[in-house]
Amino acid sequence: MSLPVPTTEAPPVGVVGLGQLGGSLAAALVGAGREVRGWDVDPAAREAAAARGVRVTRELAGVVVLAVPLPATAAALDGLDVDPAATVTDVGSVKEPVLASVGAALGGRFVGGHPMAGTERSGHAATDPGLFRGARWALCLEPGTDLRRWLRAAEVALDAGAEVVPVTAAEHDAAVAAVSHVPHLLAAALAAAAGEAGPLALSLAAGSFRDGTRVIGSDPAFVTAMVEGNAGPTAAALDRVLVQLGRPWPELVAAGHAVRTAPGGGRAVRVPLERAALLALGRAGGTVTRRLAAFVEGRVPEA
Ligand SMILES: NC(=O)c1ccc[n+]([C@@H]2O[C@H](COP(=O)([O-])OP(=O)(O)OC[C@H]3O[C@@H](n4cnc5c(N)ncnc54)[C@H](O)[C@@H]3O)[C@@H](O)[C@H]2O)c1
Repeated sequence: MSLPVPTTEAPPVGVVGLGQLGGSLAAALVGAGREVRGWDVDPAAREAAAARGVRVTRELAGVVVLAVPLPATAAALDGLDVDPAATVTDVGSVKEPVLASVGAALGGRFVGGHPMAGTERSGHAATDPGLFRGARWALCLEPGTDLRRWLRAAEVALDAGAEVVPVTAAEHDAAVAAVSHVPHLLAAALAAAAGEAGPLALSLAAGSFRDGTRVIGSDPAFVTAMVEGNAGPTAAALDRVLVQLGRPWPELVAAGHAVRTAPGGGRAVRVPLERAALLALGRAGGTVTRRLAAFVEGRVPEA
């Protein structure tokens, strides 16, 4: 049965951690006309956010977004004055550990999230209000998630210009292991092996080396926290890559090429506001693009 959820005035958004992700989100939401408050332990990040129209305060309400490094997430609300009715979400690259810490403490008030956006830069100087435009934003719908709160978190992602992908934390972690965490490890392996090949090889490195190793230019602490925080799914996804590398090379090249060059495109859909229907949309590779009172609009890839 679908659950009608009235759309009411958008609540304020509180962003904790005003670095690349949080600073970009705060700036995007200010641009979209949302009331944005924020806090960061770094005074320089606070100043930069204030200059972009964020009200710097420890008093947060509405939808509170945790955008701190993964190891800091569990304690990110300590010392802040957060409205007990607030919905709390996050942008961490791994979802099961955050669900087990913040989610266990907050229950149905917590909605795990992960925007598939970001660069190898970090800190408030890397703020880009357009960072989320057109990006996918995974948003976790666990059996205990309050759907009204999930929709509030979804509105934040949509207001930042993203498309929302409904997932469970376990599905998210398995999926991003394959498309994000393993690529970081492969980029590290490629770069390390090229380093062993010597200075001549590195001096001849061009586009394919640059593209294949770009992500390992990220802060090593960020990459380590990400892959170690998702160790099981990442190891399983890496095993699948190793199996692929054992195939005859012409077969492997053709298989990879076919996946990378598959035609895009999609068709518009309307999905009722219920967990099973929303998760089915995400599993089909679909996204939510607009929230309405009794359903969401979105699109799915052509079959
Ligand atoms: N960088 C990416 O490509 C990317 C992509 C998607 C998700 N993420 C996730 O986003 C989160 C933030 O990453 P980022 O790249 O924005 O990092 P960042 O280093 O650019 O910013 C983190 C900010 O959090 C602040 N901070 C640290 N501890 C804090 C605390 N206890 N309270 C308040 N502020 C605190 C820091 O001062 C800094 O300004 C991480 O959890 C990461 O997994 C990153």
